Amino acid sequence: MRRAKITIIGAGNVGATCAHWCAAGELGDVVLLDVPQTENMPKGKALDLMQASPIMGFDSRLVGSTDYADTANSDVVVITAGIARKPGMSRDDLLSTNAKIVSSVALQVKATSPNAVVIVVSNPLDAMVQRAFQVLGFPSNRVIGQAGVLDTARFRAFLAMELNVSVEDISAMLMGGHGDTMVPIASCTSVGGIPVTQLIKPERLAEIVQRTRDGGAEIVSLLKTGSAYYAPAAATAQMVEAVVRDKKRLLPVAALCNAEYGVGGYYVGVPVILGSNGVEKIVELSLTDSEKAAFQKSVDAVKSLVATMEQLLAAA
Ligand code: LAC
Repeated sequence: MRRAKITIIGAGNVGATCAHWCAAGELGDVVLLDVPQTENMPKGKALDLMQASPIMGFDSRLVGSTDYADTANSDVVVITAGIARKPGMSRDDLLSTNAKIVSSVALQVKATSPNAVVIVVSNPLDAMVQRAFQVLGFPSNRVIGQAGVLDTARFRAFLAMELNVSVEDISAMLMGGHGDTMVPIASCTSVGGIPVTQLIKPERLAEIVQRTRDGGAEIVSLLKTGSAYYAPAAATAQMVEAVVRDKKRLLPVAALCNAEYGVGGYYVGVPVILGSNGVEKIVELSLTDSEKAAFQKSVDAVKSLVATMEQLLAAA
């Protein structure tokens, strides 16, 4: 059986770190691509990672490129291209610039890897994955966005720190957009099978939820020159793994929801089963009234972001 071919578009911090995790996990061979203006930078990063392989003991070929021809017929394409946040910026401030970048990337991916599962990581995530879907014209199960795996990882990390237990024992679910309106689902969050609500008081849990919502901004304010990349890249690599190994993981992913949750044709974070066909099923949870209201608020925020994006693109 041949190895999976994984293309990562954008050789910045998120893209290069994702290449690192994918190669180290032997998920497949990796093409790391960036725009021609970066000249040989992607080649340098890929070669450097390739030279780490004898030490770390992974068999993955890494190639850097600025030419989409090298990405042809990829099984998975990860789109990280775009500018990142600086302190004081919201994810939404990136909308106009990144919508144009993601549109041009998606056109090239459509031409070169028509059968790929495409994972969008660029921000503002919910709008960028909607845009990629519009341009690619692929079936919606093969176009997905990474946000929930990162957001739940942050939530799990904070819960593990709070309770002084292994991160391995914490399982969490979170829905909605990748933004201030994301909705952690407390009823689906447990520690070694014990509902988190039995272990942490409601007021403290609310603080941890708020820190999770602000998790990206917390890193931006600490780094000052850019946004998070280790955890976003690890989250993306976990999604790549679910696809290339057909793991059928149940993960929160930005997926196109039509009738599901009554969303009506938008990408929002929902629990899905992720395997070699991309989204194999959207799992519909029964939510409490307050979770439903919070989810609806998040969906409305995503809708208005997409509407703004469409106006900006039409005016450009
Ligand atoms: C974050 C950015 C990458 O959440 O969206 O860190």
